[in-house]
Amino acid sequence: MSYIIAITGKGGVGKTTIAGLLISRIAANGLSPVLAVDADPNSCLDTVLGAAVKNTVGRIREDVRNQASTGKVTGIAKQQLLEMKIEESLVEADKFDLIAMGRPEGPGCYCFANNVLKDVISKLSSGYPYMVIDNEAGLENLSRRIVKKVNLLAMVTVPTKNGLDTVRRLHQLALEMKIEFDKLCIFVNRVRSETHAAHIEELGKDTNADFIVELPENQDIISFSEKGKDLLSLPPGNELIVCIDNFLKKLFKEKLNGQRS
Ligand SMILES: Nc1ncnc2c1ncn2[C@@H]1O[C@H](COP(=O)(O)OP(=O)(O)OP(=O)(O)O)[C@@H](O)[C@H]1O
Ligand SMILES: [Mg+2]
Repeated sequence: MSYIIAITGKGGVGKTTIAGLLISRIAANGLSPVLAVDADPNSCLDTVLGAAVKNTVGRIREDVRNQASTGKVTGIAKQQLLEMKIEESLVEADKFDLIAMGRPEGPGCYCFANNVLKDVISKLSSGYPYMVIDNEAGLENLSRRIVKKVNLLAMVTVPTKNGLDTVRRLHQLALEMKIEFDKLCIFVNRVRSETHAAHIEELGKDTNADFIVELPENQDIISFSEKGKDLLSLPPGNELIVCIDNFLKKLFKEKLNGQRS
């Protein structure tokens, strides 16, 4: 079974950036292989990871459905074709693999693509000790239960009063929806000053968060994003890399200490 990290938060706060950094740093710290799951139909986790996705679960599901409608593949053969094509779509990088849900093309097919993704994740999870899921904004994916339980629920926000209040609401919603998670981490991203320190502390207490990680606004991230460059080639001393490595040291204390001794 994988250790599953699911990233959530509202639109544009840095979910994909943080997913990319977590994946690359988990791998760089020797905890590979990692399965990167791009569960956002509009996402660009592949760009952030520098690993171009050629096919998505949504598109494959449509192709197989179209083939089935001609009567050429049916029943078990259809299921096998689906599984085979999805396996083929897995992008294999050095220390992580990537699978993308993509956008189902037909109307009303989201649930089916979700179910396919759910099956795929559960089949693949035995081969990957770590899995990081980048979700679309909100809790939609998690509420559709693409995984039964996550080990770490990561909520991302920017350090505005509004953003912090959104995390409070998301946390409440997660509890109401009975989303199962072992630990909660709040990433406060794009921090430029200590203006909201008191609010952040209060949010930590209200949500009973296990970790609060502040990530600074960073010029490298901005220019890499503008150029479409992957985050794997960030300079090793980059301040976000240092923050993520420190967080991983706390999260995987024993495993990382064990490795270094
Ligand atoms: N710490 C940071 N410093 C500077 N820029 C950042 C930082 N974090 C994220 N960004 C930039 O903010 C923008 C949005 O980030 P990202 O795509 O990761 O957000 P998202 O939450 O995944 O968005 P969406 O909801 O659209 O999927 C990107 O251009 C990214 O480069
Ligand atoms: Mg995103």
